[in-house]
Amino acid sequence: MSPRPKRADDRSARSAAKPRVKVSDEARFFAGWLQRPLVMGAVSPSSKALGRAMAAFVPEGVGEDRAVLELGPGTGVVTQCLVDRGVPEKSLVLIEYSREFCVLLRARFPAAQVIEGDAYAPGPALEAAIAGRPLAATISSLPLFTKPDAKREAVIGGALERMGPGAPFIQFSYALTLPVKPARLGATVETSPWIKRNLPPARVLVYRSA
Ligand SMILES: C[S@@+](CC[C@H](N)C(=O)[O-])C[C@H]1O[C@@H](n2cnc3c(N)ncnc32)[C@H](O)[C@@H]1O
Repeated sequence: MSPRPKRADDRSARSAAKPRVKVSDEARFFAGWLQRPLVMGAVSPSSKALGRAMAAFVPEGVGEDRAVLELGPGTGVVTQCLVDRGVPEKSLVLIEYSREFCVLLRARFPAAQVIEGDAYAPGPALEAAIAGRPLAATISSLPLFTKPDAKREAVIGGALERMGPGAPFIQFSYALTLPVKPARLGATVETSPWIKRNLPPARVLVYRSA
C-alpha cells in the first residue's frame, strides 16, 4: 500500500502540538541592550563584513596546539568568521558576560571553550581553558569606551603580555579616537579602513607589542 500523502492539516497539527518560537539574534541582542546598554555597547550584532575584517588579522594556519581568545563574542558572528578563516573550533576560548549568549555559543560551537564571566577579570577559568597552549591572537568586541583608561590598558596590555611580541590584539571600534594610545603599552597599532557594511561603520584596530 502506498503511504498516505501528507496533508496540510497534519503539519499544522504537529506545529500546534510543538509550539516553537524562533528568536532572531537581532532580537536577542536588542533585548540585551535594553537591559544592559553599557555592557552590550551595540544594539545589534556586527555584520559579517566586520567579522571577516577582524578575522583576517588572525595568523593563518593556527592548529589545535594553539589557542585563540575572543572577548565579548555575543551571538558568535565574529566567532563564525574565525572558524571560516580556518581556526579550529577546539582552539577557541570565548569569554562572554551574558548567560544567554553563553548558552547559544555552546550550542553553536560545541568544541570551543566558553567561559561565562568578566573578560576584565577572567580568573583561573581562563588558564584552565587555554591549557598551556600559546595564544595566537586575541579578538575583542568589548565596548572599551564604557570603561576607565586603566581598565582598557589592563585588558589590552595584559593580552599583549600573555601573547608575546608580534601577536595581534584585534579590536573593533566605532570611534574616531583610539581607546588606548599604543605608546602607553609600548605597542604599535594598525588600523583598517572603515567598514561601511556595518551599522554604524566601524574599523579594526590591531595592537601588537613591539
Ligand atoms: C558590541 S557586543 C559584540 C558582540 C559580537 N562580538 C558582535 O560583534 O556581534 C559586545 C559583547 O561583549 C559582551 N561583554 C561586554 N562586557 C563584557 C565583559 N566585561 N566580559 C565579557 N563579555 C562582555 C557583551 O555581553 C556583548 O555580547
